[in-house]
Amino acid sequence: MKTLKIALLGAASTVTLAAAAGAQELNLICSADVVICELLVEEFEKAHDIDVNMVRLSSGEAYAKLRAEARNPQTDLWWGGTGDPHLQAASDGLTAEYKSPMLEELQDWAVRQAELSGFKTVGVYSGALGWGYNTEIFDSKGITPPKCWADLLDPSLAGEIQIADPNSSGTAYTTLATLVQLMGEDEAFEFLKKMDANVSQYTKSGSAPVKAAARGETGLGIVFMHDAVAQAEAGFPVQVVAPCEGTGYEIGSMSMVEGAQNEDEAKAFYDWVLGADIQSMMPEAGSYQIPSNANATPPEAAPKLDDIKLIDYDFAQYGDSDRRSGLLSRWDSEVGGQ
Ligand code: G6P
Repeated sequence: MKTLKIALLGAASTVTLAAAAGAQELNLICSADVVICELLVEEFEKAHDIDVNMVRLSSGEAYAKLRAEARNPQTDLWWGGTGDPHLQAASDGLTAEYKSPMLEELQDWAVRQAELSGFKTVGVYSGALGWGYNTEIFDSKGITPPKCWADLLDPSLAGEIQIADPNSSGTAYTTLATLVQLMGEDEAFEFLKKMDANVSQYTKSGSAPVKAAARGETGLGIVFMHDAVAQAEAGFPVQVVAPCEGTGYEIGSMSMVEGAQNEDEAKAFYDWVLGADIQSMMPEAGSYQIPSNANATPPEAAPKLDDIKLIDYDFAQYGDSDRRSGLLSRWDSEVGGQ
């Protein structure tokens, strides 16, 4: 009997080891630009014996996927995308507490994001909101480039503006929350309803509007300034603007999923991707955010946050689950559905 038991245990542990050897995988949602997502996966796989299944989803879509999977999580880790939906996921109990040993290398703003969520999310990069416009289109149509949010209502911009839908896009939600903080809620919705006359399309992804402007498909895209810089750096005739009244910013974030099936693999990626050398690679993929690791080298072309009039963006309030849901319903009924 004893021999049989040992034999069985031996067989079981062999099976477990074999399963473990074949089960080194990680299911990742990536909510930044697909080029940086692919570079991170490639570099991580080179350095680890872990296969990464990556899907690129906009921030709001990623939040919705985690919510839909809450009873049976299929995702292990969510990297990138704006901080507000990460905070909402944390307060909804969809993401798990993790204190990475890398926290001590991070900028204060990245650690504050972690503290705000009870260590269920952490800052990975930051960047300010603004817009990029196509200088050739503006010149040929004789349109005066807008310098301020208020200028975006000018009738000369009819049909020239693209911005994303704040339900799917964290960029567009950051814009909505920024305008509410700058103007007051009712005034911000009045502004957005008026600006709707100039908007040709509400895209799904946040950076799509400035990619369209770069290619001459529209005049102007409201985006994170670093996304406009990326198009200018790629050689397109795009001018980047920081709005004169002041603007909001994102703390791009990362969260471990509560009940993740591949927790160890998720932690391995989490710690690795916070490293200074990995974050310093971002410009290679055309990503110009400010990195959260204090030892990483910020891209030379990154908009300097000190030179931009930033609002004191209230992440606790605008990352609150009820607040975010409430603003999105109001946007659906007053702006998007019109
Ligand atoms: C771009 C930016 C990121 C931002 C992301 C949000 O990729 O470079 O800094 O976090 O957009 O994407 P979303 O599609 O949710 O607006």
